[in-house]
Amino acid sequence: MGNAMILVTGATGNVGRNVLEQLVEQGHSVRALSRAPQDSAWPAEAEVATGDLADTASLEQALTGVETVFLFAVPGATAGFVAAAEKAGVRKVVLLSSGAVDDDAEAQSDLIAAYHHEAEQALRGSSLEWTFLRPQVFAANTLMWAGQTKAGDVVRGAYAEAASAPVHEADIAAVAVAALTQDGHGGQIYWLTGPESLTHADQARIIGEALGRPLSYQELPVEAVRQALSAHVPAPILDAMLTLWAGSVGRQVPTTADIEKVTGRPARSFHSWVRDHASAF
Ligand SMILES: NC(=O)c1ccc[n+]([C@@H]2O[C@H](COP(=O)([O-])OP(=O)(O)OC[C@H]3O[C@@H](n4cnc5c(N)ncnc54)[C@H](OP(=O)(O)O)[C@@H]3O)[C@@H](O)[C@H]2O)c1
Repeated sequence: MGNAMILVTGATGNVGRNVLEQLVEQGHSVRALSRAPQDSAWPAEAEVATGDLADTASLEQALTGVETVFLFAVPGATAGFVAAAEKAGVRKVVLLSSGAVDDDAEAQSDLIAAYHHEAEQALRGSSLEWTFLRPQVFAANTLMWAGQTKAGDVVRGAYAEAASAPVHEADIAAVAVAALTQDGHGGQIYWLTGPESLTHADQARIIGEALGRPLSYQELPVEAVRQALSAHVPAPILDAMLTLWAGSVGRQVPTTADIEKVTGRPARSFHSWVRDHASAF
C-alpha cells in the first residue's frame, strides 16, 4: 500500500487500463489521465484528470503532487512531458516503449521504433529515474480479427506462417506495476513476450479452441492485405507491420523470461488471453 500519487497515462488503452486496475486493487493512490475522461468508466478509487500529452501546458494539474508516472509514448511529446514532470517534482517514470527499439542501430529501422527510441532518449537525458518496458507483439492485436470471427469460421490475412510470441496486456501491466511501486527497477529495460512462438495460423486455431469452434487462417496476398488495411492503419505503421510479419515467416521467435523475473509468475499463454477476451470474438 502506498500513498504516493501515481499518474497513469494511456489509461484507456489496453495496457494502461490494466495498470490502473492493478494499482487500485493493490490499494495505491492513482490518478488516470485521458484526453476525454468523460467517454470512459473509471474505478471509484481513482482520481481522473483531463490532459493531452502532446500539450505540455495541459499536464500541469494532472502532474501536481505526483511522484511516479506510467507513461504512454506519444510521438514527439516526451521531451515536453519530461520538462513538465521535472518541474512538478516527479521522481520516476515507467515508459511503455517497444520491442522494436534497437540500441545498436545508428538509425531506427521504422517509424514505430524511431518514436519510442526518441521517447527513451528524452528520459535518459532527464533527472528522472526511468524504467523501459519493451513489449513485443501484443496478443490484443488479434482483436483485429474479431469482425471475421463473428462473421464466420475463417480468418483471412497476410502471412499464415508469420510468427510472434503474443504477450498478454495484463502481464505488461503487472511488470509496470512492479516497477512503479517497488525499488530496484531504475535504469532497467524489460523485454516482454508471451511464453511461446505461434504463427498466425496457430493463433487462429487457438482462438477457435478457446471458443469451441473450428477456426482456420487463410493466407491472402500481401498487396490485398495492404490495400484492405490502408484505410485504417497509417502507411508507415502498416509498412512496419508487414515487414515484421514477412521477416518472421518460418522462424521461431525468441521468448524472454522478464515477466517471470519481475512478477514472480510465468507469462500468461495465448490460450488464456483468448479466454479473457472470448466475448470480443
Ligand atoms: N500492439 C503491439 O503489438 C505493440 C507492441 C509493442 C509496443 N506497442 C506500443 O504500446 C503502445 C500501445 O499501447 P496500448 O495498446 O495500451 O494503447 P491503446 O489501446 O492504443 O490506447 C492508446 C492510449 O494512449 C492514450 N493517448 C494517445 N494519445 C494521447 C495523447 N496525445 N495524450 C494523452 N494520451 C494519449 C489514449 O488515451 P485517451 O484517448 O483516453 O486520451 C489511450 O489510452 C504504443 O506505444 C505501441 O507502439 C504495441
